[in-house]
Amino acid sequence: MQHPLKIAVLISGNGSNLQAIIDYQQQHPDVYQIGLVISNKADAFGLQRAQKAGIPTRVINHQDYPDRVSFDRAMQHEIDAQGVQLVVLAGFMRILSAEFTEHYLGRMLNIHPSLLPKYPGLNTHQQAIDNGDAEHGLSVHFVTAELDGGPLILQARVTISPEDDAASLQHKVHQQEHLAYPLVVRWFAEDKLQLKNGQTWFEGQPLNKPLQLEERST
Ligand code: GRF
Repeated sequence: MQHPLKIAVLISGNGSNLQAIIDYQQQHPDVYQIGLVISNKADAFGLQRAQKAGIPTRVINHQDYPDRVSFDRAMQHEIDAQGVQLVVLAGFMRILSAEFTEHYLGRMLNIHPSLLPKYPGLNTHQQAIDNGDAEHGLSVHFVTAELDGGPLILQARVTISPEDDAASLQHKVHQQEHLAYPLVVRWFAEDKLQLKNGQTWFEGQPLNKPLQLEERST
């Protein structure tokens, strides 16, 4: 693995996870470098976060392409031209083609605001409340062609209290996301994390269940 690991972050909006990845990078400059931030939306606030940190940005608007595959190919072209080793989806709100997910298989991560396999897709916080769940959380996983369905790496849990609404729960989950995501990128950079035969391997062992953030700090 080339060091520091060169990553691209794909966003569509606020980019608070991108900010956490930037902040961690600035504190640990030897672990990874952010070579590129791509947004499919020109007004994504995350682009300003990247520019402020001096990171190259590209806007690739999906509406400029006739179909999903040609949009994905345009992104792939930019990513590969930069020699990126890991693609990090951080609030990127487009479904990816099988061609794209296959190309980056084992080299692309996503963070999702639920304890997968519960609640793939949107509105996860409200669903957890409506179902009377006692806990909620986030999952970091390798990306496959199945939406929010790739092999899990790390989860973090938060307690749902009776006063919680979707906004307060989202806030709690976000706080954990900002700790979890840089850590997983770090593990990948340190070569501790692989996808082999459809399974996550961590420190040379296959994972039978996702790691728990509460049990790890490094
Ligand atoms: C996060 O909740 C993440 O889990 C989901 O999209 C949200 C992005 O938030 N995939 P932000 O743009 O990083 O603030």
